[in-house]
Amino acid sequence: MDLKKLFGYEGKNVVITGSASGMSKSATELLLELGANVYAIDINPIDLPVKKAFQADLSKKEEIDRVISELPDKIDALFLCHGIAYFPGKELLVQKVNFYSQKYMTEMLLDRISEHGSVTFISSVGGFGWQQVYDKAVELINLKTWDDAMDWYQKHPDLIQSAYVFAKQCLESYVTYKCMAPEFINKRVRVNAINPGDTITGLTEDFNKSTSPKGDIAEGEEMISNIFLKSWNGYAAKPEDMGYPLVVIGSDICSYMSGQLIYIDFGLTSTWLSGALLSQDQKSIEEISSNANKN
Ligand SMILES: NC(=O)c1ccc[n+]([C@@H]2O[C@H](COP(=O)([O-])OP(=O)(O)OC[C@H]3O[C@@H](n4cnc5c(N)ncnc54)[C@H](O)[C@@H]3O)[C@@H](O)[C@H]2O)c1
Repeated sequence: MDLKKLFGYEGKNVVITGSASGMSKSATELLLELGANVYAIDINPIDLPVKKAFQADLSKKEEIDRVISELPDKIDALFLCHGIAYFPGKELLVQKVNFYSQKYMTEMLLDRISEHGSVTFISSVGGFGWQQVYDKAVELINLKTWDDAMDWYQKHPDLIQSAYVFAKQCLESYVTYKCMAPEFINKRVRVNAINPGDTITGLTEDFNKSTSPKGDIAEGEEMISNIFLKSWNGYAAKPEDMGYPLVVIGSDICSYMSGQLIYIDFGLTSTWLSGALLSQDQKSIEEISSNANKN
């Protein structure tokens, strides 16, 4: 079996954002290995042998428009991977980088995406519980212009206060809401997202700093470890643990997969879900039997 043929990227045009670092850099390396013509975009310089690299700040509509005008007329796969951590005062910036620019780019490029093409986002376990804000997210998703969306954000300071979380929840709502929308389904364009758990990347230091109320990196690291790793005595992922599955999901291998939010977290969020679904009585029984097993 020819593995390159199985993936289906050989000679295809692929657009990917965030390729200067982390998960997207890993994904870009694999896409190149698989023979794709990669058009990569990042605010920082990209040091990979891609077909064309663009340096652009994707929080700015004018810069997105400039890049879009230079992208090819036919695109087979689009990956939206750029992202930042939240710091106080950056609520709107986080919405623009982590969600709105990604929706905007998708919709501006949708006409160029080929039949049976794919759009794949990197969301996060941080968006867990997206169902609770779905109504509001759909309201935002349905606004027609960038400026309308910026006005909407200004009127919803309560929602964007949970900055990183709300942006990722919007991304997950978008996949759920749009997967069968005519503009996607008529051309059989698939749309999915991966939801990574704790991963060591270019964002790690910022996540650590922003998680600690004092901005203390060591304290933030411990807090993150307590949330994501302690319950399973676990370890953080490597960029390729996310970048490689991302490439698989956007490929022909997953040709019948759409509308999916794929948690890549070694099962952590499934245990959160299990905890939420079990009755208090059942939890007590499990606790007693787990204590009995320890003795
Ligand atoms: N690292 C984690 O633990 C983790 C967990 C869950 C989700 N994520 C998500 O994974 C995605 C990839 O991040 P990563 O962890 O690989 O971090 P990273 O910092 O290594 O990669 C993110 C890339 O996005 C680029 N970027 C940031 N702002 C930009 C802008 N305005 N315009 C253009 N490019 C911009 C950065 O320059 C960087 O190259 C992000 O969406 C992040 O939210 C990360």
